[in-house]
This record gives sequence, structure tokens and C-alpha cells, in this order.
Amino acid sequence: MKKIYVINGPNLNRLGKREPEVYGKHTIEDLEKMLFPLGDDFGCTFIFKQSNHEGNIIDWIHEAEDEQAIGVVLNPGAFTHYSYAIRDAVASIRVPVIEVHISNVHSREAFRHTSVISPVTEGQIVGFGFYGYKMAALAFLER
Ligand code: DQA
Repeated sequence: MKKIYVINGPNLNRLGKREPEVYGKHTIEDLEKMLFPLGDDFGCTFIFKQSNHEGNIIDWIHEAEDEQAIGVVLNPGAFTHYSYAIRDAVASIRVPVIEVHISNVHSREAFRHTSVISPVTEGQIVGFGFYGYKMAALAFLER
């Protein structure tokens, strides 16, 4: 069975409650429910992870490689903008990583315009809400 890791970083456990005008009213459980049918369609298992702690995110990136995942969908939250440790973890694996942001980070505060992660990813999807996660998963599944 193909595996895709979906890793969400800090504060994304608060989706639905957190700044709904920016991130929408749906919860992280809703995100998981949206992706599940793709698993049936493509014979794939999603492994959903969320943490507010940098080290957990790094461990799961390594785990995705050890588990021979076909891809990692990664929303590193604010770590995107400054975590060289997460960047190094992404660079250390052969499994492709797609960076996803619910909001359009490029139309927001200047500090969100920089991603230290994106240069070592396959690509970045921003501004499409939860649909961005589906786009990333399809990019792994339809190739
Ligand atoms: C985010 C954008 C980040 O700048 C922010 O810190 C988040 C969420 C997004 O999905 O739009 O926590 O990654």
C-alpha cells in the first residue's frame, strides 16, 4: 500500500477556531475526512501528523523516508519562515516533499513571504485552503 505523510505544524491543531477569516472554519479532522476518499481511489494510506514541536516534525520527516512513503505533504506553519532544522530534514530524505499553506502567504505580512523550506521541496502550493493538500496528494498519486 502506498503511503503519503501529511504533516501539519504549529497552531494547525486549532484550525476552525484560529483566525477563521484567514484559515476558514473547518477543522483538521475535516481535512483528514476530505483526503480519505483519495486513499480508496488510489490504493493509498494517509498518515496524518500534527505537532506544535519542531523535533516531532523532523522525526516524522525521517519516518516518512524509513516507511518508504511516496510523498510528504508538509505545512510547517510558522516554522516555514525560519526553521533550518526542518529544511535540513527535508533535504536529508529522498522522498519528495510538497509544501502547502492554507493562506496565500505572499499576500500577507512580509515575514511570511520567505520560506526557508521551499528551496529543498518539489514545490509550494499556497492560498487554496484545504484544497491545496488535495492538489499535493494528487501530484504524488497521479504520476
Ligand atoms: C500557514 C502560514 C504561516 O505563515 C502561518 O504561520 C501558519 C499557517 C498557512 O497554512 O497558511 O501557521 O502555514
